[in-house]
Amino acid sequence: MKIILVGYGRMGKAVEDAALQRGHSITAKVDPAAEDAGVVKTLTPDLLKNADAVIEFALPQGIETNAELYAKTGVPAVIGTTGWDDRRKAIADLVTRSNGTALWGNNFSVGAHLLFKLTAEISRLTEKLPDYDIMIHEFHHKMKKDSPSGTALTLAEKVLENNRRKTVIQTQTLDRAIKPEELHVVGIRGGFLPGTHTVTVDGPCDTVELTHTARSRDGFALGAVMAAEWLIGKKGFFRVEDFIDDLFKKEL
Ligand SMILES: NC(=O)c1ccc[n+]([C@@H]2O[C@H](COP(=O)([O-])OP(=O)(O)OC[C@H]3O[C@@H](n4cnc5c(N)ncnc54)[C@H](O)[C@@H]3O)[C@@H](O)[C@H]2O)c1
Repeated sequence: MKIILVGYGRMGKAVEDAALQRGHSITAKVDPAAEDAGVVKTLTPDLLKNADAVIEFALPQGIETNAELYAKTGVPAVIGTTGWDDRRKAIADLVTRSNGTALWGNNFSVGAHLLFKLTAEISRLTEKLPDYDIMIHEFHHKMKKDSPSGTALTLAEKVLENNRRKTVIQTQTLDRAIKPEELHVVGIRGGFLPGTHTVTVDGPCDTVELTHTARSRDGFALGAVMAAEWLIGKKGFFRVEDFIDDLFKKEL
């Protein structure tokens, strides 16, 4: 595949390595701020016309402009950029209306999706065990701009979908006791950690902890490239879970 990278920061560079390793070529890298050789500042329809897919790991401020260009040119786009939940519906409508192709996800690591599945299962199992409470925490590097992470919020949604005792995601620092229906979700920032997420299930006598630890950005990058391969030939607005569910079905 001929791939265009939109955003050439830490993730863009990891995606470039993963794509080359899987035999793809990078036909353009677009980033308004990157100083690296061969990077262009602006995304144009002409650039997109010659590509089989776009993989975007940029910042959410540019999401509408970029999504409009993807939809207009019909190039399939994998969007790894996080922090645009409030604009998801509008962009989904735009892609569908234009008969375009896009797939978005807050986490492209296959290992993290194993944690999502296990979190759904443990939440379901503990629904009828009122002594067992659930909480979520995550660690990320000091450069990360959003908190809690998109992945932590996805984990929280898995809990709420599968355990009716939890109905509210609570991300604030509390100056009171937590309510039984609240699910506390907190992010801790510092150092260089690429991302560690833990779902803790705690009862009066014991604790169960499910942890996903990213050792580098390579797992996210590989998942994004695999998602782009999966997306070719499809039409519509997809979530990364659509690709992952197919992958897990194939592996089972
Ligand atoms: N979905 C996932 O699996 C996953 C994993 C890791 C990071 N992320 C997300 O990916 C994004 C990038 O992460 P990063 O660690 O590479 O950040 P980064 O800060 O290293 O790089 C982001 C780059 O995007 C560029 N950029 C900003 N606006 C742009 C635009 N309109 N067009 C093109 N480039 C633009 C910036 O100049 C910067 O170089 C963030 O939103 C992050 O939360 C997602």
